[in-house]
Amino acid sequence: MKALSRKFPYTRSRRLRSNQTIRNLVAENQIQVSKLIQPLFVSDTNKKNVEITTMPGQKLFSKSGLFKEIETLQKIGIGSVALFPNLTSIKKNNFGDEALNPENFLCSILEQIKERFPDLVLIADVALDPYTSSGHDGVVINGSVDNDLTLNSLAEMSLNLAKSGADILAPSDMMDGRIGVIRESLEQEGHCDTILLSYAAKYASNFYGPFRDAVGSKQKKGISKSTYQMDIRNSKESLKEIELDINEGADIVMVKPAMVNQDIIKLVSDNYDVPVFAYQVSGEYTMLMNSIDKKIFDHNVIEESLMALFRSGSASVLTYFAKWFAQQYDKSN
Ligand code: PBG
Repeated sequence: MKALSRKFPYTRSRRLRSNQTIRNLVAENQIQVSKLIQPLFVSDTNKKNVEITTMPGQKLFSKSGLFKEIETLQKIGIGSVALFPNLTSIKKNNFGDEALNPENFLCSILEQIKERFPDLVLIADVALDPYTSSGHDGVVINGSVDNDLTLNSLAEMSLNLAKSGADILAPSDMMDGRIGVIRESLEQEGHCDTILLSYAAKYASNFYGPFRDAVGSKQKKGISKSTYQMDIRNSKESLKEIELDINEGADIVMVKPAMVNQDIIKLVSDNYDVPVFAYQVSGEYTMLMNSIDKKIFDHNVIEESLMALFRSGSASVLTYFAKWFAQQYDKSN
């Protein structure tokens, strides 16, 4: 940047802050509803929507509840959702075999949504955690998550999801080499337009707890996800992960959690030319919601938290606040 010699009173920063209209004119960023993605949880057994106690205001939807919710979301301008299934434990085993069933709950839901809402962009997570009894994202062999064996499952699972109508596949498992294996099998089967949104810089975070309640993937004591998710002490490593995934065929890369990793969002968006998405995760949502519910903060903290993510360089944000934000926007227009 050019060195200027700014001087008071020729420069007064407050001139451009004097009223809302002026502030709007000079604002560098704004949040568009079309940039927000709502994650949704759906149960394979519940006949009614159930509140998720550790995520105030979020629900584990029944199948029909989910369809209704999507209809509402579309009306208020949310064009894409990320779906997460909560399955009964009888469908889970050590290998997460149910993930490979081409007619499993999630595949059938995707097909039905695509039929009813052809314009909706559907994002499906690729990871075994809803399907394994351990809650791990991969296959556990001899006390550790086996990378290469898991890759075979992820590739097969991805094909099933793409065939069922997922527009975007989002591998969130952090196995090495998965983007390449998934991309190749998609190409071989003619799914060359399926978008890969890679959870490339996904940290082993304590902020995922409420999500695991929602999906029913809470791990029992044992191996931690730190053997595959990133160490919170590292930042340069995120560049390595991003580079690997782009080279293997990722179209979009994601940083997660979002609020505690804005340095990483900025680093990645400054260094790479692919879109960077951020995931404001369950714990970050709950942290804000609890304070809002207790009237410690008002709802304005939501916009502030999201704005910071866009300012950091996020192209779009996955957030449990998507619906709320779109509703406010809808009312003010
Ligand atoms: C699972 C997955 C997780 C999240 C998204 N996909 C949790 C985990 O890795 O255990 C977390 C999202 C959130 O906390 O909102 N592969």
